[in-house]
Amino acid sequence: MGDDWRALNLANWEARVPLHLSPEGYDLASFDDPQYLSGVVRYDLPRLDSIADLDVVHLQCHIGTDTVSLARLGPRSVTGLDFSPSAIAAGIALAVRAGAAVRFVECDVYEAVTALGVGCCDLVYTGIGAICWLPDIRRWAEVVAALLRPGGRLFMREGHPMLDTLSDTRDDGLLVVQYPYFETSGTTFSEEGTYGGPGTVAAPEGVSFNHGLGEVFGALTAAGLTVTAAIMKDSLRRCSSAGGPARDPSAPPHPRAGRRPLQLSSRRISAVCWPTLGAGRVGPSRRPSTTSGWRT
Ligand SMILES: C[S@@+](CC[C@H](N)C(=O)[O-])C[C@H]1O[C@@H](n2cnc3c(N)ncnc32)[C@H](O)[C@@H]1O
Repeated sequence: MGDDWRALNLANWEARVPLHLSPEGYDLASFDDPQYLSGVVRYDLPRLDSIADLDVVHLQCHIGTDTVSLARLGPRSVTGLDFSPSAIAAGIALAVRAGAAVRFVECDVYEAVTALGVGCCDLVYTGIGAICWLPDIRRWAEVVAALLRPGGRLFMREGHPMLDTLSDTRDDGLLVVQYPYFETSGTTFSEEGTYGGPGTVAAPEGVSFNHGLGEVFGALTAAGLTVTAAIMKDSLRRCSSAGGPARDPSAPPHPRAGRRPLQLSSRRISAVCWPTLGAGRVGPSRRPSTTSGWRT
């Protein structure tokens, strides 16, 4: 597929941002309360530990709600990175509105080391529908490892990759594996709705990439990191879905959120939602090589 995935996904995310900024989209007004934290960061707090005095990089920060929330936890610095110019502009506007000191960088994840520098941070924070947009999980892990100083850590939370394999809405109520579990060259989709607000996404096509658990943890360890915690939760959080319950912006979105989870809700679980995977902390056990072994 070459780099077509990037152009498609960038157009798709550019088209989602205005919908997420609408009054019925992400809850931005709550940030006027200086104590307010996004639901995502509030949920992660018990496992995140103190980030005071850390330099934090938030990969795929989207419109900055979690990035600004991290800034409110008192780190030394916070940098949000995303490849969507509209998302970065929205993040800057939110930080100004919230009075938060956040640096936002418009950049592809795979170029993050060039943009931010080797060993630029103590904590990489990411997740909630992030790695499913990246075609090569090993290359992503190498980026994470290169960004971290010795002793730094990665904190990520994602949906379980098995959910990404399941068939979209079926009328027989069965859970059917339809999409790849292991990393492939991608699954194309067209979805006119978005998890984060009403309206039609003007560029509905995109490409998502599943990564199996072994691939994710294998990539991290191959990049020189040590997995120090991996938590799989059976708790489930609501996310938006066509015809589903009210949107909760703290819930992990899904690239095909409007279609598949409805069946899950009726069969296995009590709400339209995602389980939480891997609130894992990872720290380098040795300095990773910075660029060698990157797959381009
Ligand atoms: C589902 S959002 C992340 C959600 C975020 N946790 C939130 O709700 O605020 C995924 C983000 O990844 C970004 N993204 C996708 N592919 C990217 C890439 N290759 N490099 C940088 N950002 C990317 C998109 O622009 C989007 O903002």
